[in-house]
Amino acid sequence: MRSFVDEQTKREIAEAGKIAGRTEGWLSDNEGAFLFLNARNGPCRGEIVEVGSWKGRSTIWLAKGSKSAKREKIHAIDPHIGSYEGRKENTYAQFRKNIRAAGVEDHVVPIVSKAEDAAKKWKKPVRFLWIDGSHNYEDVRRDVLIWEKFLVNGGVIALHDTVFREGPTKVSKELIKSGKFSNIGFVDDITFAVKDPEASKASTAFSLLSRELALKLLWIRIPAFRNAVKKLFFKQYV
Ligand SMILES: C[S@@+](CC[C@H](N)C(=O)[O-])C[C@H]1O[C@@H](n2cnc3c(N)ncnc32)[C@H](O)[C@@H]1O
Repeated sequence: MRSFVDEQTKREIAEAGKIAGRTEGWLSDNEGAFLFLNARNGPCRGEIVEVGSWKGRSTIWLAKGSKSAKREKIHAIDPHIGSYEGRKENTYAQFRKNIRAAGVEDHVVPIVSKAEDAAKKWKKPVRFLWIDGSHNYEDVRRDVLIWEKFLVNGGVIALHDTVFREGPTKVSKELIKSGKFSNIGFVDDITFAVKDPEASKASTAFSLLSRELALKLLWIRIPAFRNAVKKLFFKQYV
């Protein structure tokens, strides 16, 4: 099957995967490659913002991608106060250690704050918004509503945990139904969408339907189908 990613980029993704894989976290290699490609080749101009860094696994994927194309630094927002699902640890020192070991410390701007507080001081346009913070519905909804306002038309929003976690899954469906996004797609546990002032209700309804079909019937069970869909959606970023 034809690949839309050139050999050099494939090597860079494999290398980034080895490095990110040394950092504790939940992101799959497919999801990491998706972040890498968006940071490296994604459309529009603007900042890259991450909500929820924990120990830096997704930050490393994003920074590796963006740095390889000499593009924007990653604004990595996390209070690092160990409030994540009852865990009792301050993750900031480990986060810094991990991004340093990965060789991307110079390409990351840590913002040690809750996303809602960080937004109060934020003024810049955003081209890629990665949401991987709280799993609580109200929290995710709030983070999306606050930060989506900074997303430029044509910019990409991506949410993690949109298959098995109730909160992010519900928010991702609302995002699709909002009629503000087109080119909606899925990579493992990620739902992504492109901000589009001309998005039609019909196309977003179709996306929602195809999401349900993909999840319920095909996505998880048939790898060949999953790979074909992924290639289709990656096409626009390479
Ligand atoms: C699932 S972890 C992030 C995992 C990380 N993206 C990775 O790839 O390993 C969730 C993180 O979100 C952070 N978080 C929770 N609520 C937040 C908020 N309101 N603003 C910013 N970060 C938040 C937590 O502190 C935690 O570190």
